Amino acid sequence: MKIAVIGTGYVGLVSGTCFAETGNTVTCVDIDQSKIDRLCKGEITIYEPGLEKMFLKNLRDGRLKFTTDLKQGIAGAQIVFLALPTPPGEDGSADLKYVLGVANELGKIMDDYKVIVDKSTVPVGTAEKVRAAIGQYAKMEFDVVSNPEFLREGVAVEDFMKPDRVVIGTSSDRAKKRMADLYAPFVRQGNPVIFMDEKSAELTKYAANSFLATKISFMNEIAQLCERLGADVDMVRRGIGSDDRIGKRFLFPGIGYGGSCFPKDVQALIKSSEEVNYDFQILKSVERVNEIQKTHLIPKIKAHFGNDLNGKHFALWGLAFKPNTDDIREAPALYVIESLLKSGATISAYDPEAINNVKGQMGDIIQYSINPYEALKGADALIIATEWSEFRTPDFDQIERYLKNKVIFDGRNLFSISEIKVLGFEYYSVGRN
Ligand SMILES: NC(=O)c1ccc[n+]([C@@H]2O[C@H](COP(=O)([O-])OP(=O)(O)OC[C@H]3O[C@@H](n4cnc5c(N)ncnc54)[C@H](O)[C@@H]3O)[C@@H](O)[C@H]2O)c1
Repeated sequence: MKIAVIGTGYVGLVSGTCFAETGNTVTCVDIDQSKIDRLCKGEITIYEPGLEKMFLKNLRDGRLKFTTDLKQGIAGAQIVFLALPTPPGEDGSADLKYVLGVANELGKIMDDYKVIVDKSTVPVGTAEKVRAAIGQYAKMEFDVVSNPEFLREGVAVEDFMKPDRVVIGTSSDRAKKRMADLYAPFVRQGNPVIFMDEKSAELTKYAANSFLATKISFMNEIAQLCERLGADVDMVRRGIGSDDRIGKRFLFPGIGYGGSCFPKDVQALIKSSEEVNYDFQILKSVERVNEIQKTHLIPKIKAHFGNDLNGKHFALWGLAFKPNTDDIREAPALYVIESLLKSGATISAYDPEAINNVKGQMGDIIQYSINPYEALKGADALIIATEWSEFRTPDFDQIERYLKNKVIFDGRNLFSISEIKVLGFEYYSVGRN
């Protein structure tokens, strides 16, 4: 099939590459000229495990193309995916200016029947708005489908190639058939393609992310209780996770959820609810708990250093909002940095993939290290903000050698309390005493 993907970020580039991998010819379109130039030259623009190899193969084989020209990009395409940003507007609702802006253009330039697919996370009713925007100008027939994306950054290629489920919202049989054909190679093991109406598909994505965010905030509150009651959140997590109705995943407490999706999607669903006079109380609490949790380590750090961080220097391991990505959008590490700097401390940070993005956003207000141990030199303590695998079994001898004090503040509960105490470290984590 011939496919166009509009927006070549985390979702667009992964989707485009994976569709090319199953034999489709894919043109990815973006307004960012420098991004498209780099991609055309075979330079990958995001870090995502397994993506570069697949991208290079499909680029070389001519199944994957890149352009900034929307008209050229969609020419002959049977399906056009919109993988555009939907950032929070000033009031927290999803800003649809990118999606509707492109939809307006599409109407003017479509050359034959096309299925236009919302892959961006969009509020209920957006498919209708996209249909209206295209319909103002379109001379051709078209259908609009909602096909929310559930990939997780860090395992995006695996998720896309073998999705747990594919959700397709459409009332058109013609579009349904086209979408089913496109996704058939991805669900050969029998994972479901779930067809539904557009509105339900749109809400499914928000419900999924909001539910996962709720699980995290719930466990973070249990962790708060554990600290106050002398219980161990790791034990509680294992105790409840073995119940199938609860499940083992997404029960890890920490310093809050971040990333480009959960914070904005929780906010947008609260806003959408308000618009229909519904007060989504649970979600408001989920958001509030997360706000507090992002700086959960700060009072512990302050208390340890006698409430005076002025002139203190910290090593910070982990900047990305989660491991295996270079994405720093809403990363808890950034809130830790902001808070420490405000208190007069300085920071040397290390992250395997995200340093360039942080440099681009924050510049030189902190120092950056080329490996985790260099960041420790002369630091008063180590702070861990992201659970990269390489931090899980570090060389504690080196940590001891380089740190001024044997103190670790661990926002991701990487180490066993008993083992780290035997090594003589003062160790602060989340929900464990
Ligand atoms: N990142 C994720 O893990 C994830 C997962 C599921 C769903 N989503 C949703 O998918 C959507 C895209 O997310 P993302 O993380 O890929 O965003 P992103 O910011 O990484 O990428 C968006 C891209 O769209 C481009 N763009 C903006 N305006 C354009 C225009 N008029 N024409 C062409 N390109 C344009 C930008 O230059 C950018 O490259 C969002 O709605 C997001 O909520 C994201």
